[in-house]
Amino acid sequence: MQVPASYPRKYLNNLQKAVLDFNGLSILEVSHRSQDFIDVMEEARENIKKALNVPAGYTVLYLQGGASLGFLITAINMMRGTKKAAYLNTGAWSKAAIKEAKNAGLAVTEVASSADKNFNYIPKGFAVGNDFDYFHSTSNNTIFGTQLHQFPKVSVPHVCDMSSDFLSRPVNVADFDLIYAGAQKNLGPAGAAVYIVKEEILGKSSYANIPSYLNLKIHHEKESMFNTPPVFSVYVSMLNLRHLMKNGGVEAMQKRNQAKADLLYGEIDSNPLFEGTTVKEDRSLMNATFVLKDNALEKEFNDMWKAAGIDGLKGHRDVGGYRASMYNALEIGSVQVLVDVMKELAKKRG
Ligand SMILES: Cc1ncc(COP(=O)(O)O)c(C=O)c1O
Repeated sequence: MQVPASYPRKYLNNLQKAVLDFNGLSILEVSHRSQDFIDVMEEARENIKKALNVPAGYTVLYLQGGASLGFLITAINMMRGTKKAAYLNTGAWSKAAIKEAKNAGLAVTEVASSADKNFNYIPKGFAVGNDFDYFHSTSNNTIFGTQLHQFPKVSVPHVCDMSSDFLSRPVNVADFDLIYAGAQKNLGPAGAAVYIVKEEILGKSSYANIPSYLNLKIHHEKESMFNTPPVFSVYVSMLNLRHLMKNGGVEAMQKRNQAKADLLYGEIDSNPLFEGTTVKEDRSLMNATFVLKDNALEKEFNDMWKAAGIDGLKGHRDVGGYRASMYNALEIGSVQVLVDVMKELAKKRG
């Protein structure tokens, strides 16, 4: 249940080797201008393209700064003549993105929001007018445990923060003008963010004097090597992508993630002591949020899952209860451990 992520042991072994000896030097010592590292960067970028079937006309970039810098970078690069942006507000990360868009000087309209029910659902059936520079969505909401299983069709460019479910399922990249994701859930260690950018959007911003680092056009022209990239994070994500591609890519990953989620949600729904906190159709495959119906059982349950070796199950303070994060690398066996604990509690107290 690790938060924010876990790694397949197999590639951690390769990583260990590279820390000692990557090409004679440690991966921590190697120059980012060396051919050996350029090959790493290119393999990582290419494998993201392969994994998500990225169509021609899109570029894949690795930048520093995480998704939080991405909130600002995307706003600045997508700003056009109207200086108006439409945001779907599905929780804390959407709100953070909205704040940065405003900081960039955009007038933000929340075209839909699930704030009325503490973000326990994904708004649907809303309209997005043509008079916006772009529309922004957040594909998965870690804190509230919701996920967009279908993306709204909009007539303006679509920007999506896929930080917390990137590479967990196939997506139709052609539906988006800009996808961004912090690395640290399904891709690699913190320190990098990935941008998948439709090349035709580059160089069209109306933002005056974009600082160089925030300008995606410059990163594209420099093949994602404008400055020193987050070498270690890119290297680990390259190993992870290799592992993903050898194991059936995102299609197989989606099946594994679905099986994990089915196992846990099945237990939440059938166990008399628990209930889920989100509406069923919007449940996240990455983060399952649930509560005990009777708070008096909290200590007993907490002691039981901790004794079973589970870590990080406590829910975010905005929701309370529990949150089981089931990112790509988490094996179904770990979900089974939690399910067994829940069953045991029901046997004793149900
Ligand atoms: C959907 C989403 N967006 C943005 C962020 C923030 O990412 P970072 O810490 O890389 O800035 C997170 C972090 O969990 C997230 O889940």
